[in-house]
Amino acid sequence: MAQIAVIGTGYVGLSSGACFAHLGHRVFCVDVLQEKIDDLNKGIMPIVETGLKELVAEGVTSGLLTFSTDAASAVVNADVIFLCVPTPEGADGSADLSYIQIAAKTLSPLIRSGAIVVNKSTVPVGSTKVVERELKRPDVAVVSNPEFLREGSAIQDFLHPDRIVVGSDNLEAAIAVGALYEKVGAPVLVTDPASAETIKYAANAFLATKISYINAVAAICEGVGADINDVVLGLGYDKRIGHEFLRPGPGWGGSCFPKDTKAMVKIAEDAGYDFGLLKGVITVNDQQYGRIVEKIRNAAGGSLEGKVIAAWGLTFKALTDDLRDSPAIEIVSRLIAAGAEVAVFDPTVVVAPKGLEKLKVMSSLIAACNGADVIAVLTEWDDFRQISPNEVADVVSAKNIVDARNLLDRSEWLRAGFEYQGVGR
Ligand SMILES: NC(=O)c1ccc[n+]([C@@H]2O[C@H](COP(=O)([O-])OP(=O)(O)OC[C@H]3O[C@@H](n4cnc5c(N)ncnc54)[C@H](O)[C@@H]3O)[C@@H](O)[C@H]2O)c1
Repeated sequence: MAQIAVIGTGYVGLSSGACFAHLGHRVFCVDVLQEKIDDLNKGIMPIVETGLKELVAEGVTSGLLTFSTDAASAVVNADVIFLCVPTPEGADGSADLSYIQIAAKTLSPLIRSGAIVVNKSTVPVGSTKVVERELKRPDVAVVSNPEFLREGSAIQDFLHPDRIVVGSDNLEAAIAVGALYEKVGAPVLVTDPASAETIKYAANAFLATKISYINAVAAICEGVGADINDVVLGLGYDKRIGHEFLRPGPGWGGSCFPKDTKAMVKIAEDAGYDFGLLKGVITVNDQQYGRIVEKIRNAAGGSLEGKVIAAWGLTFKALTDDLRDSPAIEIVSRLIAAGAEVAVFDPTVVVAPKGLEKLKVMSSLIAACNGADVIAVLTEWDDFRQISPNEVADVVSAKNIVDARNLLDRSEWLRAGFEYQGVGR
């Protein structure tokens, strides 16, 4: 059992902290936001994540999990300190390391000799050295341990990962960090820091590439009269390709892919390589938002001016409340800018996000569909499949549906008299 301090109790820090406590470690989760810590201490989760509340309750009850704003008491006796702070996009597309630098600098005098500082935030190549420079503590090892969990299945992913990557010049420290995960039974890959940092960006860039690739193929399917669902099946049975991450949609988004792909382009540029392939992937993604807006415009009769659009879903994916860089937000913003009135229903959204005050947030799918000229399915919430097309038909102005997630049963909606448009079919 190790004593762990987690700095930054967000999507990654909170999920990781709760899971480490579940694995039997003593965990102190720290955040600068007093309100977040107060809520956690009352059992109120700041994020929607399957199984998180139960795991937090288990940790608090067992005494292995504590939440606080007091970094000093969390860090002073810690064997391992995980940095899980944001690394947002900087002005030139590179990752902004200021949160990491501030955390390392302020924690430095508090850390005991022989402890290990772990970078779990997604950071560019060379950041392990940046942390070492900020710490100015040769007696403290710095390790890179990128996180691969997906929002929506963060707990499952953390406890059943495909692999653990640990990068350090200090082999003893790398092995000690790998040992924290012993109970999850995943392969532990020990590398140098640059390789560990590269693995994380290369993984996210590759996943974004798969999605942009299948969205591009979906566009071709529409042009040649093929059905993307059959094409994906035919591709996926090839073991070299596989079925995962080959689902067409409104484009990728979320808190990681947009910033990480841009950061990877910048990392490549700094290394003297023009990553044209990844730039293309980003361009295809931006085009995909536009393609979905065009589908909605066409369904509305060629103009969005004064048209009423019902948006189904706002989060960047189902099973999370995360709106950061959500494709749905990008599409809704473009619809509003083109003169449409947009009403949205999302199971996790109760108020319009900042900057989207014109968006009407409704409390049910049917309320959002009232008087709609077009319905746009933007997030793949499973509940949306259960709604009856006939019930929806009773409240809309016109029976048009653009299913940007290929989520619904097309034949059912066609039977109810809707003009149905999916992606790539
Ligand atoms: N969200 C994901 O799915 C995911 C997956 C893998 C990796 N990552 C990476 O993990 C990192 C964190 O992402 P996130 O989504 O958890 O971010 P987040 O914004 O949800 O959480 C970060 C937390 O850190 C806190 N914080 C900032 N500075 C602090 C400080 N000095 N001391 C204590 N707390 C501080 C913030 O208040 C916030 O609660 C990023 O680098 C991200 O790229 C995210």
